[in-house]
Amino acid sequence: MRILFIASEVTPFSKTGGLGDVAGALPAALAALGHDVKVVSPRYSEVTDARLTPTGHALSLRFPFGTQGGPILSVRLSERHELLFLENEHFFGRAGIYRGPSGDFDDNHRRFAYLSIGALQAAQRLQFVPDIIHLNDWQTGLAAVALKRGFQSTPLARARTVFTIHNLAYQGLFGKGVMEDLGLPWDLFTAEGGMEFHDQVNLLKAGIVYSDAVTTVSPTYAKEIQTPEAGCELDGLLRRYQGRLQGIVNGIDVEEWNPETDPMLPARYSLKRMGGKAECKRELLRRSGLPDGDAPVFGIVSRLAWQKGVDLLLEVLPTALQADIRFVAIGSGEAQYESAFQALRDRFPGQVSVYMGFDQGLSHLVEAGADFFVMPSRYEPCGLNQMYSLRYGTVPIVRATGGLVDTVEGGIEGNGLLFEAFHPSALLGAFRRALALYADPPRLEAFRRRGMEKDFSWKNSARKYEGLFASLLKE
Ligand code: ADP
Ligand code: GLC
Repeated sequence: MRILFIASEVTPFSKTGGLGDVAGALPAALAALGHDVKVVSPRYSEVTDARLTPTGHALSLRFPFGTQGGPILSVRLSERHELLFLENEHFFGRAGIYRGPSGDFDDNHRRFAYLSIGALQAAQRLQFVPDIIHLNDWQTGLAAVALKRGFQSTPLARARTVFTIHNLAYQGLFGKGVMEDLGLPWDLFTAEGGMEFHDQVNLLKAGIVYSDAVTTVSPTYAKEIQTPEAGCELDGLLRRYQGRLQGIVNGIDVEEWNPETDPMLPARYSLKRMGGKAECKRELLRRSGLPDGDAPVFGIVSRLAWQKGVDLLLEVLPTALQADIRFVAIGSGEAQYESAFQALRDRFPGQVSVYMGFDQGLSHLVEAGADFFVMPSRYEPCGLNQMYSLRYGTVPIVRATGGLVDTVEGGIEGNGLLFEAFHPSALLGAFRRALALYADPPRLEAFRRRGMEKDFSWKNSARKYEGLFASLLKE
């Protein structure tokens, strides 16, 4: 199959979270299954890879606000896996992917219209006629619309479209003036038109309504989003689309996240030779300015957002820190959480270390050097860090929600610690279970082993996508 994969970030070129990781790894896995995959993403100013090569083609898109264009650059990762970067100084030449220091960019609707429609034009320019167009999150919702309006009489319109929801809470909501700004016909802005939502434009909804199939990133989240509690007011729509909605759990890039070869670690290790993990722990403590010792280290690497439950964590940490534990937090996001973590560090010097920013090297060191990795999420579509932890022999402590349920096994024969209620006592209970586990080395080792032995590679899930694509092409 020929697959056009459109995403607003792609690791290792650009990344704010798990979407980038998925856009980096899933296409590679599909290519390994024998499919021709082209991934289209913006060339942000941070995309400076030496492998970028001009294709000799350029875009030219006409909008009411003017014509926008720019070259298409390419990075070929394998015979069947090519990345296409859309360059446009005006839209992507600034620092930041979605936002700058003063918040979300106010022209995001134009920037991601350029990505969505530009990706279709890029396929045309390169004479790539896809069988499947795989869209991801609201930033690509307009591509599904454009295939019905604008590209409907081109060969591209024969492709079947799959829209993957990585996070239902981010819907790409804009004032209705955006319809005219982008030159979209008003008949789309009705209940049946698919783009209207409480008198606003909703690009995620457009992607859902105009695609042939909808997926999300875990089976449990697929069920949850059909309920009012987790449905972000789209649960009714999703229930109506039930027959063409399914959850396919994310995999991880087992080459990037491999404790046996990870170049970002001070020492490497495997199930058979675990010595390097202790060295990673020592290095983590050293870099964090914490005293060396036997105390268990708890870590978190996270966007600091409501979704991630960091407020619950901050609430229980003063109690949890009464025990002899160390805590290392890496994160960036909402200022209130950043300052709360900093205040915690000031209150518990020698026990807590905080790095507020985005640092890939440090995130690998935390996965390897910590004993426990905490994810107290309110909701979690899939989550990747818990799988990185399991692979690195670090026991995850997770709330039983979304993809965390589908990837972490609880119970005495499990590989992680789950807690149910989003409540301080439930999280504190999990901390207590962690301490008991830490005090029982054979049991701890068995937990680590069961985590490290699990196969989280993309292969199984890529086959599920392949099956879905094949079934759509038969319809
Ligand atoms: P989400 O996409 O909701 O943020 P995921 O668990 O799917 O959650 O993916 C998060 C990804 O972003 C992981 O690869 C994680 O290591 C990375 N990440 C998050 N915050 C940081 C940070 N401050 N520094 C480095 N990496 C981070
Ligand atoms: C989103 C979700 C996260 C998921 C990631 C990749 O950012 O919040 O749970 O793992 O997308 O699908």
